[in-house]
Amino acid sequence: MISPLARKSFSLLFLLTLSFVFLAPTIAEAQKFVANYDESKIPDYQLPDPLVTQAGEAVTTPEQWRERRSVLVDLFEKHVYGVSPKPCPIRHSLVSCDENALGGKAVRREVDVFFGESDDAHSMRLLIYTPTKSTGASAAFVGLNFQGNHTIDPDPSISITESWVRDRRDDSTDGHRATAAGRGVAASRWPVETIIDRGYSLVTIYYGDIDPDFDDGFQNGIHGPLGSQLDDVPQVHRWGSIAAWAYGLSRALDYLETDSAIDATRVAVIGHSRLGKTSLWAGASDPRFAMVISNDSGCGGAALSRRAIGETIGRINTSFPHWFCDQYVKYNENENACPVDQHELLALIAPRPLYVASATEDQWADPKGEFMSATLADPVYRLLGTDGMGGKSLPDEMPAADQPIKSGRIGYHLRTGKHDLAKYDWEQYLDFADKHLTKKE
Ligand code: GCU
Repeated sequence: MISPLARKSFSLLFLLTLSFVFLAPTIAEAQKFVANYDESKIPDYQLPDPLVTQAGEAVTTPEQWRERRSVLVDLFEKHVYGVSPKPCPIRHSLVSCDENALGGKAVRREVDVFFGESDDAHSMRLLIYTPTKSTGASAAFVGLNFQGNHTIDPDPSISITESWVRDRRDDSTDGHRATAAGRGVAASRWPVETIIDRGYSLVTIYYGDIDPDFDDGFQNGIHGPLGSQLDDVPQVHRWGSIAAWAYGLSRALDYLETDSAIDATRVAVIGHSRLGKTSLWAGASDPRFAMVISNDSGCGGAALSRRAIGETIGRINTSFPHWFCDQYVKYNENENACPVDQHELLALIAPRPLYVASATEDQWADPKGEFMSATLADPVYRLLGTDGMGGKSLPDEMPAADQPIKSGRIGYHLRTGKHDLAKYDWEQYLDFADKHLTKKE
């Protein structure tokens, strides 16, 4: 005989099991991220004003902006990208030199730059093209690449990176190492010959040389050897990978200051996607970059986080926990609590020329949010005596596809097509550089 009490407990257990079986998938489902692409479903938000201090006072002069700027840099460090170590001394060594590259149009060099003076210091390899016909030092584009220097051009004498690489489904990688099959696979993103023909140098570095792009608790790449300098900084505010990659770009610029073929006062930093987020942070945190280009940088780059459309802070921190500082997680599904938004990152680049680009099929990166961000940086550019986005007033609406806005200090375009760094993008950047990076006599 089963007692009434035992029967009761049995039915309770049965009910609990039943609800678990049916409810568990629903809970998991609810946690699964579904991107919003509907403008009408954007949550209410209020953007911080770059020209109003944390204490609520208006910033009306360039002097006041300088103070405000340093507060904003500090906020971006502590809440978004993390605090980086102070610049380390660098040393370099020439690895290879071809004076007759691109059929004689360019000198191609590989230079290792070491983070520190010790023999075992971590290093990154710069692939440098300079135009042979250039008289004197030339302006340059500097950008990180995704798959290794050997992927940006099929030239078989470019060394294959020995750093960790993300495995691909083709034969360009093998067990997280790059193979010769990857030579030139990213060439469409790096029109080396066009850049040289237009009179610019190109400097590129494999981002994995600086910090391998996977979550290992901020230990590998330069995080390990340089991280000990951050012992005084609370863990949650220490640099993530984007800050480490940006730090690498600044050390590359330290090197370029010593390279007589390149005019380090005329260097544009460029990046696509996660590396566009990186070029923005490099440009914001290092005012020596004379021009900054963000190609499809999206969430954590040029796009406004508070719009929470396409990729969100919560989603990016879940998929890529190592890109930002740990503090940034506080703003997962809680964007309004973040003391800054990304238009203020763009404002940190003022008054230097800034170009933001989006692509029509890249809704994940929120093209509209990238455009809005660029327009919201305009008042800071104007306060500093420049023409901002150009024209007397700001455009009310996003420009149509393939109609670049590039007459002012802030450029913007929406390219037809997918998430990529394309020939069309480069054409606009080269025009923009012609306007802003020419030598001042
Ligand atoms: C993912 C990520 C984006 C990033 C992109 C990239 O799509 O969600 O934030 O920009 O990768 O770097 O390719």
